[in-house]
Amino acid sequence: MKIAGKHYRSVWPIGEDAFGIIDQTKLPHELATLTLKTADDAAHAIKSMQTRGAPLIGAVAAYGLALAVRADPSDESLARTHDMLADTRPTAINLRWALQRVVDRLRNRERSERASLAWKEAAAIADEDAAMCESIGRHGLGIIRELAARKKSKLNILTHCNAGWLATVDWGTALAPVYMAHDEGIALHVWVDETRPRNQGASLTAFELGAHGVAHTIIADNAGGHYMQAGEVDLCIVGTDRVTANGDVANKIGTYLKALAAKDTGVPFYVALPSSTIDWTLASGRDIPIEQRSADEVLKMTGRTSAGTLATVEIAAPGSPAANPGFDVTPARLVTGFITERGVCAATEEGLRSLFPGHQK
Ligand code: MRU
Repeated sequence: MKIAGKHYRSVWPIGEDAFGIIDQTKLPHELATLTLKTADDAAHAIKSMQTRGAPLIGAVAAYGLALAVRADPSDESLARTHDMLADTRPTAINLRWALQRVVDRLRNRERSERASLAWKEAAAIADEDAAMCESIGRHGLGIIRELAARKKSKLNILTHCNAGWLATVDWGTALAPVYMAHDEGIALHVWVDETRPRNQGASLTAFELGAHGVAHTIIADNAGGHYMQAGEVDLCIVGTDRVTANGDVANKIGTYLKALAAKDTGVPFYVALPSSTIDWTLASGRDIPIEQRSADEVLKMTGRTSAGTLATVEIAAPGSPAANPGFDVTPARLVTGFITERGVCAATEEGLRSLFPGHQK
């Protein structure tokens, strides 16, 4: 995607012994990039959320594993680094999916060829993610076109967290259809949930939409239900970190409440995902591990002061504890449909299998 006319991906190779990412902890105040040279660098970037979003952490982990293979192509190192990277974040399945792809690619291959194979596999994972997201955009565009034609005036779309190009390799999942609709001249406006506690909506989604010229308004997380009741939301689209075989959806904490409000008010609630986000091994969302994050994310906020420097301030009564689950699970019955790279389907096991046949439980 473009920022000030320059095309960016959110991860890119630098030769065959390093790769680059955008440091998302600096956005929206600064567009800084980082060069990662080891698997430990990649693990740190994922853990500290310099890089984030389910599909993107998959691609970053794959590049990290490929760097470790270059340093030591042995089976022992491969297994150790795989486990180290897989442990960085628990909820998004793409991380494990991407690491497994690299491991599978190297099975029974000579040590001498492993580094090059691993690097190529990481690059393929990144390229395929960009292609899948572009395809998600085209399928979601159909939904937006239809709603816009029916409404005949500006369409209001609500999204939660960041499921734009910063959360993937390019395009995004939930935002890909929005960008395509905007580019073909459909009048639309996006309600951006700020997405406490880390504010991915306010700091990342709003940044992306603004850079692309899409009209948007940041709202407090609690405001979405109000706008839905007022008839000011025509469509919700969110991303996801893991969809189980029955269609349950793990996504950033607060997604469930938006889906409930959408159901109550009759607003269509779509989830956009590449097939790498489907966990066919889990029967339902009850079994998805939910990341528990630091209480500090709830008790403190970081932002730019009027002097232009970044500062972190405490916002709670001193001594009060805080709980911070990073994700929640939206039951499939609250989801209108899935927008995938192969088309739109019902949020059911049958729906998923109609587009992706042949997966074992
Ligand atoms: O904790 P984060 O910022 O990695 O969470 C990201 C989300 O929840 C996104 O909505 C999800 O990964 C979908 S990304 C296309």
